[in-house]
Amino acid sequence: MSLATAASVAVGSLCSPRSRIKGSAFQPRMAVRYDSVKSTNLSSVTQILTNFQNQCATPLPVLRHVADSMSNDMRAGLAFDGGSDLKMIFSYVDFLPTGNEKGMFYALDLGGTNFRVMRVQLGGMDQRVIATDAVQVSIPRELMFGTCEGLFDFIAFGLAKFAEKETGAYQHPQGRKKELGFTFSFPVNQTSIDSGILMNWTKGFAVSGTVCDPQISVGRNVVACLNEAMQRQGLDMQVSALVNDAVGTLAGAKYWDNDVMVAVILGTGTNACYVERMDAIPKLPIQNTQSETTIINTEWGAFSTGLPLTEFDEKMDAESMNPGEQIFEKTISGMYLGEIVRRVLLEMAVAGSLFGGSIPDKLQTPFSLGTPHICAMQQDTSNNLDAVGSILFNEAGVKSNTGARKIVLEVCDTVAKRGGRLAGAGIVGILQKMEEDVKGLIFGKRTVVAMDGGLYENYPQYRSYLHDSVTELLGPSLSEKIVIEHSKDSSGIGAALLAAANSKFRHDF
Ligand code: BGC
Repeated sequence: MSLATAASVAVGSLCSPRSRIKGSAFQPRMAVRYDSVKSTNLSSVTQILTNFQNQCATPLPVLRHVADSMSNDMRAGLAFDGGSDLKMIFSYVDFLPTGNEKGMFYALDLGGTNFRVMRVQLGGMDQRVIATDAVQVSIPRELMFGTCEGLFDFIAFGLAKFAEKETGAYQHPQGRKKELGFTFSFPVNQTSIDSGILMNWTKGFAVSGTVCDPQISVGRNVVACLNEAMQRQGLDMQVSALVNDAVGTLAGAKYWDNDVMVAVILGTGTNACYVERMDAIPKLPIQNTQSETTIINTEWGAFSTGLPLTEFDEKMDAESMNPGEQIFEKTISGMYLGEIVRRVLLEMAVAGSLFGGSIPDKLQTPFSLGTPHICAMQQDTSNNLDAVGSILFNEAGVKSNTGARKIVLEVCDTVAKRGGRLAGAGIVGILQKMEEDVKGLIFGKRTVVAMDGGLYENYPQYRSYLHDSVTELLGPSLSEKIVIEHSKDSSGIGAALLAAANSKFRHDF
């Protein structure tokens, strides 16, 4: 089985038993005594755990190095294409929504195992968002590895069915094409606000143009793919804005709060974008715009400098569909955290009989343990860790005693801690770069980082490690200025707002 299987693990569905969470600050468990599994080789298990913890450690100097490297790689990526791992994609979003947008707009969000369609009625400055409704459809797994037409026809069909049911809350001038903001959460080389070429698939997608040529869909204008599929469905709608989910989140969050300068997605995949000055982008395409700023989509999932990686990360990467790519994403995002834990537990079972010598098939199956499972295990506060035991049994097929469960929790915590702290260092890297360019821009006032994604939303330990790392790096007084705010589902509204701001009919408003 390949890494692609992981895409079936929807991080958005993380179902932590919230009633059991005591406070948000997670107390790392102390070293455990482990004496009750007969055939376990305790010294071997402990050695694997200690090595793993040491290799994953993120003390302040490591965090600082990561934050500095993020800033440097951002600059190098802005200088010319290929200047660093960071693609630093020009979004063509030069004008953010003002609040004056009016009318009905659609948004379509494609970026994981589900796609989401939304309808929004905008009422201008006084009324803002008058009505919204949305539907989420899960994408059959085979379409994630099928053809471009197959995937986009399925999406356009779902969109057409949703568009049939407009209620009286929505008004649209007769005879005018409906407009759509298309959130496409993969690396796209944008060629304008409403066109872009897919650079590569991430998050386990591998859609091809034809079955025999898996590379062919890389290089297609994704907006043309969707517009053509909508036409095939007889849908009178067109794409007015193509946006990444991080960009949509920034636009949506800034609509309500003008201090938003950065947006970060931490879900199945990960990404960040921020407001950049046009004159700080040496590789800027020739632009006919009055705006002094734009949004840069960093595609930080591809970042790799200075990360504390282990043999488990390296093997997972080597066996993935995109070896050598998306290393930051593979270290911090929801698609991969559970899989790293599974690999460590498998090694402990093989080399140290952690589960009494039993190595069931499930434990050997890549992605059998998802991030929602490791998150749910970490919420277990019972004495015997009963929930941990049943998750291990149901998902990995192993029977465990309390000692083994404590070791498992140590592994989960190590992976969540490294992920959360590195994500925090990445955020500081972006803020630092912006502040270095314009003194006072970030730390001279309140600055908001808009966060979205199931991992951030639903994994309390991960979230608090992230916050800790930002505070550690910035120190108490600077970090007071930085507000890290959950902007749930802003990207849908953001895409609709950007469709409105870039409407083909905007002069008719
Ligand atoms: C993609 C980004 C996206 C992120 C979060 C990554 O895999 O490359 O474009 O923003 O996931 O969805």
